[in-house]
Amino acid sequence: MSLDPQANPSLGLPAMSRRVRADREREYHVELVDDLLGAGVDRLTSELDGRRALVVTTPTVHELYTSRLVDALRRHNETISTIVLPCDEATKNLDKVKTLCEQAIESGLDRRSVIVGVGGGVCTDLVTMAASWIRRGIDYVRVPTTLMGQVDAGIGIKGAVNFGCKKSYVGTFYPPQSVIVDPAFLNTLCARHVRCGIAEIIKIALACDARLFELIESHGWRFREIAAHTDSAELREIIWLAIVRMLEELEPNLHEDRTLERVADLGHTFSPMLESATGFRMHHGEAVAIDMAISAALAHRMGWVDDASHERILTALIDVGLPVWSEHATLELCWHAIEDAAVHRGGQPNVVLPSGIGEADFVRRVEGICRNDLEAALRAVERRAGDGSAHD
Ligand SMILES: NC(=O)c1ccc[n+]([C@@H]2O[C@H](COP(=O)([O-])OP(=O)(O)OC[C@H]3O[C@@H](n4cnc5c(N)ncnc54)[C@H](O)[C@@H]3O)[C@@H](O)[C@H]2O)c1
Ligand SMILES: [Zn+2]
Repeated sequence: MSLDPQANPSLGLPAMSRRVRADREREYHVELVDDLLGAGVDRLTSELDGRRALVVTTPTVHELYTSRLVDALRRHNETISTIVLPCDEATKNLDKVKTLCEQAIESGLDRRSVIVGVGGGVCTDLVTMAASWIRRGIDYVRVPTTLMGQVDAGIGIKGAVNFGCKKSYVGTFYPPQSVIVDPAFLNTLCARHVRCGIAEIIKIALACDARLFELIESHGWRFREIAAHTDSAELREIIWLAIVRMLEELEPNLHEDRTLERVADLGHTFSPMLESATGFRMHHGEAVAIDMAISAALAHRMGWVDDASHERILTALIDVGLPVWSEHATLELCWHAIEDAAVHRGGQPNVVLPSGIGEADFVRRVEGICRNDLEAALRAVERRAGDGSAHD
């Protein structure tokens, strides 16, 4: 407390104020493991360390994996309970977080207990929210089972649910104790969800790692038959590099309070509006792919990328079966998306465009983009998508 009489001379009183540091150092591990459902289960048992735990999962993942995983965990720890929560994007809301909190009470979780989220991004987002609320914050471990979760949704510190008509409107920054990634879960993932995960991998490669981009160009086709390749060294390398690059981008700004210029926002300028324009029938990864195609064409038009790089970007997306065009991508929607990005990113749109393969830069002001260039970019992508070389 400051008692300096000079501090408040107008009242002749000492100032009563004290600055309080509210920092909390946190670290967590993200790890690629083998055979989590078999010999590798030790990795998870050691995270739980004998503590009471609640495993949260969704019906598909439970049927495929979690029932086996829980049996294996119970051999070491008898205080494991499970909740199988039917949940998808449409029902990812506060009611589901409340259900998890109720289950936490029923399972007798205390401050020392731990929650384990085994599932896609919807499941791990709900677990992140619930863990940050229960007893004002208990430990939790994420085991992402989709490619999107393993390279993106499951590895940062954020979690959110939809509220009213707003996507991810209510959320938290709350780090997990650890994230355990086993590509073997991808064996059963449907092709469409695999492609959505690849879109995020291409995003991070295009934004900051030319070598990762080359690996996708060489091996991307294998993702189409992912079940046959989940133990291949190339696939593991691609997933691990994508994780590391993503974490390198996230780490200096984990709470998103240091800068609103984030290269990992590449592919996320037009995609939110595209998703909502289709009533969310278009998946997030598909919208990100179309956004990257538009962003690349715009960068090409503005002289940021040459012909060859532009073609490589479109080919990489098309080769793995991602869409590059949608009739919903009108000039009005895209222009509105840029203006909306400015609202969300502190007054400046910070539109991320590729400036080469493995490099990206920002258009910081709305006026930095010419409507004619955007229109020409949209026509170029539409022509490319319609020239017969797009798969699926
Ligand atoms: N917190 C973050 O930083 C962050 C970042 C990006 C996205 N997200 C969120 O992630 C969510 C999208 O995640 P998602 O793409 O993983 O979707 P998802 O969680 O809905 O999973 C997709 C589908 O795959 C099924 N599934 C999961 N694992 C499977 C497996 N191994 N085999 C077979 N089927 C399996 C699920 O049952 C589901 O039907 C969105 O809600 C998004 O908002 C969060
Ligand atoms: Zn995304």
